[in-house]
This record gives sequence, C-alpha cells and structure tokens, in this order.
Amino acid sequence: MDKLYEEEHPDIVVNFAAESHVDRSIEDPELFLRTNILGTATLLDACRKYGIKRYHQVSTDEVYGDLPLDRPDLFFTETTPLHTSSPYSSSKASADLLVLAYHRTYGLPVTISRCSNNYGPYHFPEKLIPLMIANALADKPLPVYGEGKNVRDWLYVEDHCKAIDLIIRKGTVGEVYNVGGHNEKQNIEIVRLICKELGKPESLITYVTDRKGHDLRYAIDPTKIHNELGWLPETKFDDGIRKTIKWYLENRKWWETIISGEYQNYYEKMYGNR
Ligand SMILES: NC(=O)c1ccc[n+]([C@@H]2O[C@H](COP(=O)([O-])OP(=O)(O)OC[C@H]3O[C@@H](n4cnc5c(N)ncnc54)[C@H](O)[C@@H]3O)[C@@H](O)[C@H]2O)c1
Repeated sequence: MDKLYEEEHPDIVVNFAAESHVDRSIEDPELFLRTNILGTATLLDACRKYGIKRYHQVSTDEVYGDLPLDRPDLFFTETTPLHTSSPYSSSKASADLLVLAYHRTYGLPVTISRCSNNYGPYHFPEKLIPLMIANALADKPLPVYGEGKNVRDWLYVEDHCKAIDLIIRKGTVGEVYNVGGHNEKQNIEIVRLICKELGKPESLITYVTDRKGHDLRYAIDPTKIHNELGWLPETKFDDGIRKTIKWYLENRKWWETIISGEYQNYYEKMYGNR
C-alpha cells in the first residue's frame, strides 16, 4: 500500500474489495475477517498517512440482518441497528464501524454506501443469477436453497456505481447512504424468469438444503439518497435482467474459464450431495 500510495497519490479511495460470498464465509470465516476488516484497516491507515480527500466504503444492506417475510411494510433505513447473520455480514459491519471510527477519531473524510443485491455483467459465477444462467445453459440442475422464498432487493450494477459516484461528489462526510431500488423478488421468481428467457424447462429446478442462518428478506429504504442527492435507479429489472443474460451469452469465455478452475472444487463442496 505504501508503494501504491507513493506512486499514485490517490485523492479518492473507494474500497470495493471484499470477500463477498456468504456461503464461502460460512465455510471459512477467518478469511473474511482478514480481507474485509484488516483489509479495510490497512486502507484507512494508508489514507491517514498519505492524506486523502475522500475514503468511500462499499458496504451492504446485509449489515442490517433480515426482515420477516410477512411484514412487507418494513424497510432498512440508515438508522436501523446493525444486526448481522453471517460471518460475511459481520465482517462488513465491523469494517463499517472502523470506517466511522476513523472519521470520529482521526477526522478522516469518509462516506459509506449500503447497497442491496446487485446483478449485471461480470458478476462472479458463484452468485445466484450467473450460477443459474450457467447451469441452465448447460442443462444442469438449478439448485435453489430451501423453498426459494427468500426475498432480495435487486439493483442493476450500473445504478449502484452511479450512486457511489454521486455520494463521492455530493454526499456529506461521515454519513451512511442506503442504496436500493424497491425491486424485491423471491429467489424462485428469478430462477423461473431465467428459465423462461433461456427457453429452458422449470423441471431443471431442484430444491436443496437451505443455507445456514439464511436471511429471509432484505429491503432498502433509499429515501435519504433520493432526497439529499437526487439518486434514483434508472434500469428497470426486466431490461436489466435481459441485458445481463445477453452479456453472459456473449461472454461465455469469461465465466467458463472461471468455472473450470478452483471453482469446480468449491461447487462440488457446496452443492454436491445437498
Ligand atoms: N454484489 C452484490 O450484490 C453486493 C451488494 C452490496 C454490496 N456489495 C459489496 O460490493 C463490493 C464488491 O462486491 P462484488 O459483488 O463485486 O464482489 P466480488 O467478489 O465479485 O469482487 C470483490 C473483489 O475484491 C477483490 N478482493 C478480494 N480480496 C481481496 C484482497 N485481500 N485484496 C485485494 N482485493 C481483494 C476480488 O479480487 C474481487 O475483485 C464488496 O465490498 C461487496 O461487499 C456487493
């Protein structure tokens, strides 16, 4: 980091880097503590040492835990208490607290965004949408956790990036902004939609043992970023998911290379005999 900061003199640092997959965090929590907490501390210390105009932390709605399925009136706001479920979300919440502590203690100019589930190009093939696209294309079973009723609030990745850009330019230092598009879908709805778009039969869907501690519902209230910064999502889900599927069809080499490597062992471990 010293070398990087001395060579590049960054004025704005945006920390996207993380171990990001909940299932992997259940298998190996310590890796998540190292990357997500100590990695964040390393960047924050470098920012203190070399000076910075802004440090932005890319966080997640998962720091708020989950909401019940039968209370569609409830949403996460920026003041919802942190209440994490997985080693992944615990490590992200810890990182958020460190970022805020560096603001209070050292006066570091920080902002944090907590976004709902992203989808779009270059999504790593272990995540729900690319996994289902890849399996459906290969006529392989589509492994859905539990009954597939868990709800996520999906946002096209470019809308997330636009929100981050806006927060860096116009957001208030020391503040947290929730980012989400009021686009809640059950996992099973997403999988059925992918089958339909690819012309594959729903008989490929297989229900597998649920994820440990599986969060039921995430739903973001994005009022603050809308009122203060004028952000609104631009891509409708129907358009975004079609664009995403098209991207995976046109960029098979990118994800096929990933799937053929170490990922194969991971896949066997997660979904074999489940
Ligand atoms: N994808 C989502 O739905 C979503 C939603 C909300 C927040 N986020 C957050 O957005 C960020 C990016 O998520 P993503 O979905 O693109 O995940 P990803 O796993 O695809 O990308 C994470 C990136 O971090 C890098 N990385 C991991 N460990 C590192 C280390 N020790 N040093 C340097 N780089 C390292 C990886 O190489 C990878 O490029 C993460 O901080 C994640 O918590 C993601």
